[in-house]
Amino acid sequence: MPNVLLADRFSAAPMVDVTTSLFRQLCRLMTKQAMLYTEMIAADAIVHGKLHLIDYDDVELPLTLQLGGNEPHKMAQAAREAERLGYSAVNINAGCPSDKVQQGAFGAVLMKDLPLLTAIYQEMQSAVSIPVTVKTRIGVDDLDSFDFTFSLVSTLYEAGVRHLILHARKAWLNGLSPKENRTVPPLDYPRVYALKSMFPDLYLTINGGITTIEQCEEQLTHVDGVMLGRALIDDPYLLASVDSRIFGVREQVKSRAECFAAAVELADKLCSQGIALHHFARHLLGFFAGIPGARAYRRYLSDNMTKLGADARVLEEAFALVRLPADGAESK
Ligand SMILES: Cc1cc2nc3c(=O)[nH]c(=O)nc-3n(C[C@H](O)[C@H](O)[C@H](O)COP(=O)(O)O)c2cc1C
Repeated sequence: MPNVLLADRFSAAPMVDVTTSLFRQLCRLMTKQAMLYTEMIAADAIVHGKLHLIDYDDVELPLTLQLGGNEPHKMAQAAREAERLGYSAVNINAGCPSDKVQQGAFGAVLMKDLPLLTAIYQEMQSAVSIPVTVKTRIGVDDLDSFDFTFSLVSTLYEAGVRHLILHARKAWLNGLSPKENRTVPPLDYPRVYALKSMFPDLYLTINGGITTIEQCEEQLTHVDGVMLGRALIDDPYLLASVDSRIFGVREQVKSRAECFAAAVELADKLCSQGIALHHFARHLLGFFAGIPGARAYRRYLSDNMTKLGADARVLEEAFALVRLPADGAESK
């Protein structure tokens, strides 16, 4: 199957202000196999030379750059930069409903202009040899019937798209905030499964509302890939089971405490490079979710990580407030 990377079986969703390079480096302490995504980056910014926005560390690979934009030549130019810099793939954002994105007439708006979306895809894919993929939803506003989703998928398929990420709910462009657009429109997984059976050689990744490894395993009996977003903010430790459970790597799953120790080591390295602790440590606020002491840990960390001169010791002090089960049974 062309245009498909093994890593796409499990991916960490693109999330603005979350999936920064530092977050991705944290992810890599727990999974070597999963596909990671950048935040959405405007193609315009890349074309105007703001390449610092797409800096990454080699440990983050495999890594997909998600692009926002609606001008085929700029999207293609940005894709070329991504390929030159060594990104594994580029992804077109055709699902984001935020006001800013709507004003720029890209994101979810592109679902209303399929000729433009396919023109963007085709110009990008002819500019690069890395895969160009599309992340979208099953509908937008009143365009929410099965027939609409079918025409969206078949149009993209005919244009050459071979990896599609479907957030299994529609977007409402007027009246709902981006946050509401991730909860209010109902999820419709069966629609995504139906499309997979109609397009067997389209690599289909499902996204939306998946929160556990067990759910990932179940989803993968219907589709090719799973993509998780908010669950990784709430509990990034979920990633520690991905390589063994999703990719079949024979290895002992690292305990939460072992992963946290690796994160402290990384924090130490980053601080010695002059990076303020909180840029990294904010991604660890949910690290002990559901474990006794988690609230005290979280409070201590958020109160202290932004203080002048804060370093990795703040993480160790916060960790001292957590009461992990003695036998490592917290691994899941
Ligand atoms: C804080 C935040 C920022 C997001 N930013 C992006 C983005 O830049 N590009 C994108 O395609 N989706 C973005 N999303 C949507 C997620 O990629 C994902 O589609 C959505 O959260 C549903 O998946 P989940 O239920 O696993 O979280 C964002 C979601 C969140 C919570």
